[in-house]
Amino acid sequence: MQANAPIGVIDSGVGGLTVAKEIMRLLPHEKVLYIGDNARCPYGPRPQAEVRKYTWQMARALVDKNIKLLVIACNTATAATLDSLQKKLSIPVIGVIFPGARAAMKVSVTKEIAVLGTLGTVKSGAYENALKSLMSSCHIVQLACPKFVPLVESDEYEGEFAKKMVWETLGQLEQKHFDTAILGCTHYPLLQEFIQEKFGPSVTVLSSASETAKDVENHLRFQNMLAPAKRLPVHQFYTSGSTSIFETIIKKWLEIEKPIIHSIKFPQT
Ligand code: DGL
Repeated sequence: MQANAPIGVIDSGVGGLTVAKEIMRLLPHEKVLYIGDNARCPYGPRPQAEVRKYTWQMARALVDKNIKLLVIACNTATAATLDSLQKKLSIPVIGVIFPGARAAMKVSVTKEIAVLGTLGTVKSGAYENALKSLMSSCHIVQLACPKFVPLVESDEYEGEFAKKMVWETLGQLEQKHFDTAILGCTHYPLLQEFIQEKFGPSVTVLSSASETAKDVENHLRFQNMLAPAKRLPVHQFYTSGSTSIFETIIKKWLEIEKPIIHSIKFPQT
């Protein structure tokens, strides 16, 4: 594998762009190949076996493009597939759940932590396991927020309607005590402002994006695989769905004026 090979980043849709953004910020010479499986998004309500199958399809597509490292920038896919990808692929594979848990543990004072995620992530217990492995006495409260991903995927995450949805959903946590909330779905950072507003200043709201980017850097540095410093990379974006919303969100979120976007097809079954 070459140091100038790209990094692969996958998600069920646009959510993983929040992780890609941090990777691009921290490692500006690395080229990113991103796949969003927008046509089959959301993954959250799907059975784990299906999520595993879809995630493997994306991983194979990028391995065929000779990536040097794979980031599963989706919590639902990380919960379902990280182990099998790590065991079977010959390149390093990084998920987002452990970095998210580690970030929360670093900032939480009371060690009372809320996890917001998809149905699949919450049901998997993956955050619970990760947080407990860092501190067995921590207290965890989890909430599935199935209305959030569709708001982001349809580019409706900025208005009053989105705020109402966020506030209504998070109302379920009103009697709970926590000082830190993990955005346990990579789509949620796009709603972070509303989430923070609802919880108020006593709660730190954080995502796994920057901790995940640090893991990517550490892996590449350790393996002597960081890209040459003089390179200006041209990232490539692949979507199985409509390119127009994908493009709008990439332009807005990543501030790339003319992103290079391709269609990619996966079997619909
Ligand atoms: N962005 C994804 C995650 O982090 C999944 C959203 C979905 O497809 O339900 O879990």
